[in-house]
Amino acid sequence: MSAATSPIMELQNVSKSFSGIEALKNVSCEIFRGEVLCLLGDNGAGKSTLIKVLSGFHQPTSGTMHYACEEVVLPSPRSALERGIATVHQEVGTVPLISVGRNFFLGSEPTKRFGPLKIFDSAKANAVALEQMRSFGITRVTNGNQLVGTLSGGERQVLAIARAIYFGAQVLILDEPTSALGVKEAAKVLVVVNEVRKQGIGVVFITHNVRHAMAVGNQFVVLIHGQVEAKFRRGEKSRDEILNLMAGGEQMEELEAELSALEDSFTAPEVDDQTVEQIRMGA
Ligand SMILES: Nc1ncnc2c1ncn2[C@@H]1O[C@H](COP(=O)(O)OP(=O)(O)O)[C@@H](O)[C@H]1O
Ligand SMILES: [Mg+2]
Repeated sequence: MSAATSPIMELQNVSKSFSGIEALKNVSCEIFRGEVLCLLGDNGAGKSTLIKVLSGFHQPTSGTMHYACEEVVLPSPRSALERGIATVHQEVGTVPLISVGRNFFLGSEPTKRFGPLKIFDSAKANAVALEQMRSFGITRVTNGNQLVGTLSGGERQVLAIARAIYFGAQVLILDEPTSALGVKEAAKVLVVVNEVRKQGIGVVFITHNVRHAMAVGNQFVVLIHGQVEAKFRRGEKSRDEILNLMAGGEQMEELEAELSALEDSFTAPEVDDQTVEQIRMGA
């Protein structure tokens, strides 16, 4: 396979057990440059465990990983980052009470000499942070001294993404970047994901929102109970088919039948006026 078409990162039959519980079973997937791989699955499916394996936080119990056509072992998140595998965790990894500029350079601050001392060059940090965010369409933030806590959820995600790209990410792993966001904010992040993809980065986008996945995904992997239930490319499956896959097919129909039976048998409890009045009075 040529370098242009070979994956930048590849997992082959990766399994991960935690004291007897198999969180991942024989998972194989490929990440390509300039593509978004959407990792879909319900809670407990193994998505976070898979990310932690890709990002060097966990080591597989068995199976192999390749990066840039070489077999690799990632003993730590630092070792993954040094190779260009960057992860933006769900909680975004931003500290609300520090400035945008400082946050951008957290752990790798630009310094300038001040007599015998090296001090944090906040003017430079602010300028770089703002420029990088602007390049991804965030124009509302105009002061690098602004605290991260004053940014919207979407802006924080973009800050973390811009930082990863600036520091040389080749593979960018995003753990549910849109799950806590409203429609407009999620759209902002999805636009940035697409932009990052166009720059030739291999993106892994974790979500349980099929609409968000379909907006940006080139390839899709559905995980159920730690196993790859389905793997397909853009355009091969409809939204309903993907939803059914995520729910495990039959299970979805059973669930719906159970729910409608519950609805039919449900009668609203009687609430008397006295109780309502007590609640209103705060009793
Ligand atoms: N550190 C751990 N120790 C023990 N069990 C774990 C650990 N991390 C995850 N698991 C288990 O692995 C399974 C998959 O979890 P996880 O990867 O967090 O799923 P998801 O992110 O898709 O919700 C769950 O059953 C979870 O309880
Ligand atoms: Mg998770």
